[in-house]
Amino acid sequence: MSDNTYRPIRSFVRREGRLTTGQQRALDELYSLYGIDWTAAAGPLDLDVLFNRQAPVVLDIGYGDGEALAEIASAHPERNYLGVEVYRAGTGRLLRRIEADGITNLKVLLADASELLRQGIPSASLAGLQLFFPDPWPKKRHHKRRMVQAPWLTMVADRLQPGGFLHMATDWAEYAEWMLALSETEPRLDNPHGGYAPDPGDRPGTRFERRGVRKGHDVFDLILQRYAPST
Ligand SMILES: C[S@@+](CC[C@H](N)C(=O)[O-])C[C@H]1O[C@@H](n2cnc3c(N)ncnc32)[C@H](O)[C@@H]1O
Repeated sequence: MSDNTYRPIRSFVRREGRLTTGQQRALDELYSLYGIDWTAAAGPLDLDVLFNRQAPVVLDIGYGDGEALAEIASAHPERNYLGVEVYRAGTGRLLRRIEADGITNLKVLLADASELLRQGIPSASLAGLQLFFPDPWPKKRHHKRRMVQAPWLTMVADRLQPGGFLHMATDWAEYAEWMLALSETEPRLDNPHGGYAPDPGDRPGTRFERRGVRKGHDVFDLILQRYAPST
């Protein structure tokens, strides 16, 4: 595997206090149905077993309250979606939505996404990876906490199947430039658009996107593709 240079980074701060009773109940009652218990010690997941069927798997990192992920999974029943978050309240909300809407192709996992990607996702197993509005860590001294780093992109390129996509979106212009510049250094990722994608494709609007737009920010989508055949 090509993760030798990858150093785990802490890309999040725990932003929650107590969960509401409803969120706690959702975690207690629904996580065993739609959630996955995984720790790094368990090693790579068998994605076909996890979903009990063979279908292209898309990993969503940092789904927040899960609104956009639930929408996109419902719109693509032909794919399996795996969401990973550290935010328990948002996960409680998403579990309730999965139950209420009867969504069968979406599983959630409470874990550090970088750890999951490094130790739990096999090489060439993902049809796609979505990273929508990751924390921008705007201060220069915090840039090292950004999810998107050169070794992270190398790891993502390894986990994607040839032809698989990496879809990133941000409303932080300087982070968008950072993503674009770094993606140009990863030889296994192609940018069919040459720069930012002209539109968000099938990405639904997200809560953090709306927040950025209310502040007058532009939104940038970057849609890359793992070269096929493998290099
Ligand atoms: C700014 S929010 C965006 C949420 C959602 N994608 C949206 O667009 O509304 C970023 C999310 O990424 C999650 N996150 C950050 N680092 C993470 C990590 N290493 N593993 C899992 N989730 C992470 C945070 O908990 C947070 O909910």
